[in-house]
Amino acid sequence: MASDKKLYIKTYGCQMNVYDSERMAEAMGGQGYTQTDRPEEADMILLNTCHIREKAAEKVYSELGRMKVFKAEKPDLKIGVAGCVAQAEGEEIMRRQPMVDLVVGPQSYHRLPEMNAAVQAGKRAVDTDFPEEDKFEHLKARPKAARAPAAFLTVQEGCDKFCAFCVVPYTRGAEVSRPAERVLREARDLVERGVREITLLGQNVNAYHGGDETGDWGLARLIRELARVDGLERIRYTTSHPNDMEDDLIAAHGDCEKLMPYLHLPVQSGSDRILKRMNRSHTAESYVRLIERFRDARPDLLLSGDFIVGFPEETEEDFQATLDLVREVGYGQAYSFKYSARPGTPAAERPVVDEAEANDRLQRLQALLTEQQRAAQQAMVGREVGVLLEKPGRMAGQMVGKSDHLHAVHLTTGAAVGDLVRVRIVESMTNSLTGEVV
Ligand code: 5AD
Ligand code: SF4
Repeated sequence: MASDKKLYIKTYGCQMNVYDSERMAEAMGGQGYTQTDRPEEADMILLNTCHIREKAAEKVYSELGRMKVFKAEKPDLKIGVAGCVAQAEGEEIMRRQPMVDLVVGPQSYHRLPEMNAAVQAGKRAVDTDFPEEDKFEHLKARPKAARAPAAFLTVQEGCDKFCAFCVVPYTRGAEVSRPAERVLREARDLVERGVREITLLGQNVNAYHGGDETGDWGLARLIRELARVDGLERIRYTTSHPNDMEDDLIAAHGDCEKLMPYLHLPVQSGSDRILKRMNRSHTAESYVRLIERFRDARPDLLLSGDFIVGFPEETEEDFQATLDLVREVGYGQAYSFKYSARPGTPAAERPVVDEAEANDRLQRLQALLTEQQRAAQQAMVGREVGVLLEKPGRMAGQMVGKSDHLHAVHLTTGAAVGDLVRVRIVESMTNSLTGEVV
């Protein structure tokens, strides 16, 4: 196969897709493809898609519409759809979009090279299986090229929770953990290539159970083991579910220095009635108590969450309970969404909340969350934090990095990308902080 082919990947949705896109690029690298950020020069375009909300899925079809131009100019161009839309609507994509050559679900990426061979021979290829083999092990070993200082590492995939609104259990399949020893190997390899911070990823990352012959490994044990890797300075994890929290993970926030003071723990709603209808199997109260335990272990923990407003049958009273919970917890960061009915999920069959009402609730919730986010940023002013330098800023001598609490920080320094510096925060801007090296 020619060795100068170009691959363009567009990634939608969550961080797991970002990680998967990297691994797909590496798999195709073995076939002579190098990555480009210019779709017009690509020999293959891959859309790595997200199905979580209706808008995300619709974007894929409109993007495919735009891709027609490239295909018209370059008939040899191959177009592939990967990710959760591929999983959920593979056959339909093939029907609706005759120019799509390849559809590959999230558990089948390791089969991409074979599929590409079929595509190059003029066939169309679809693979949306949930294969037995571990895709990560079958993917090519990660090449030794230097890396940016912060990296994602998927350790767990899939979900068995079946929240009534969510497509993830259908698109990503059942909860599966990667064996600890493979995760550690990949982490060491990343560190050798310049990585200083690793974010462990999973749809339910705290349900991690990657046992070996010495027994069961929960996420806390994995984190403690990773903390022993020299050169790895920071560890984070996302996304967690309140029901899978083990005591040792809470404790690790207090005694594991490399574990950063940040927790993304979605609650979705503050109304017990709605939580029940969502099949969340926790209450607002049990969530708040859990947060208290984390804050006891690590008082400066920055909390992040996900919320859905306008879930079927949500009343103004239910919504007020969500606002109450947000006021009680105090979030430094949050993501809020208007409910979007997803085909095949239980909630999709239920009576919907009036659209204008749902929009209004979203606005009110976002106003409160924005206020809290600003306050949390403002509270950093005067404090000293660690900042991992990630890239040069716009002006000479400037650098941009991430603080321990995951705030973007701008500063002037002679230090290099990948350095971890101590910084005093001097100002809070709209979406970032300004600091001075101490
Ligand atoms: N509608 C709106 N938001 C959703 N999420 C998941 N499914 C839906 C849906 N059908 C949100 C949840 C989840 C985040 C990743 O996306 O808040 O935590
Ligand atoms: Fe979806 Fe709920 Fe599983 Fe999260 S826990 S991926 S929201 S079903």
